[in-house]
Amino acid sequence: MSSTTIITVAIAVLAVLGLGVVLTATRRSDMSGVGALSRETRKRDRDAKKSARKIGKEVEAAASRSTAVAVMPPAEIEPWVVPDPEAIDESRRAFLNRANTTLMSASLGGFAAALIAFLWKGAEGGFGSKINAGKLEDVIGQIRANKGFLYLPEARSWVTEYPKEAISKADAVYAGQGPVYSGITSGIVALYQKCPHLGCRVPECKTSQWFECPCHGSQYNRVGEKKGGPAPRGMDRFGVSVNNGMVVIDTGTVFAGPPIGVNTTGQEAEGPHCVGGTGGH
Ligand code: FES
Repeated sequence: MSSTTIITVAIAVLAVLGLGVVLTATRRSDMSGVGALSRETRKRDRDAKKSARKIGKEVEAAASRSTAVAVMPPAEIEPWVVPDPEAIDESRRAFLNRANTTLMSASLGGFAAALIAFLWKGAEGGFGSKINAGKLEDVIGQIRANKGFLYLPEARSWVTEYPKEAISKADAVYAGQGPVYSGITSGIVALYQKCPHLGCRVPECKTSQWFECPCHGSQYNRVGEKKGGPAPRGMDRFGVSVNNGMVVIDTGTVFAGPPIGVNTTGQEAEGPHCVGGTGGH
């Protein structure tokens, strides 16, 4: 190799080395610039942290102020005063008066309501009022259709025929009970279902054609005259009127049954008894 070539190569190597040094220096310079920027950033971060800590302390201080427990002012306690006995008596009297008045008002109100209901019912019809039983011929027809007895629940009564041939005898016994006698002269009697002994409902006995009480065995003929048993009299009854052929039974008044021994129809048992035999009273 010639000396000229060696010098040329050496110069080229030196040039390359020089370029490498320059590039490395530039790179370091750039790197040092980047480091300077990071410090600024860290400074900003520190400032921001300081600011945040400051704000946090302020918030905590504000919060501690807002949650402070309010202290109630001491209540004023009135001094105890011994009650006045007269005032207590007065108050007790007033209470009792009010209670009495209220109870009396309630009682009177209840009584008035019951009275009005009773009168209202009486005015409307039903037991205790005048009951329209229908046409006389229909009533008699139903009695015969039911083998001698017609029961009217609304009147709580048995209605039976009174034989025409016995009316002359009835005059002496029933004339004093005008409304009852009026029915007899029309051919019927209305007998209260309640036994005059102790109040049982007395049923009819189709076989004997009497009324026979199942409670203690009192017996009555078909027009309610006592025939036996412990009853103190014949069956009680209601007044009957016939107006324009219409039968009206007045259940507002109960007429006492005839005394023991009255037997205006002379009707004897027409078959087996339903309750016991004939009594001896
Ligand atoms: S209640 Fe009818 S006989 Fe006693």
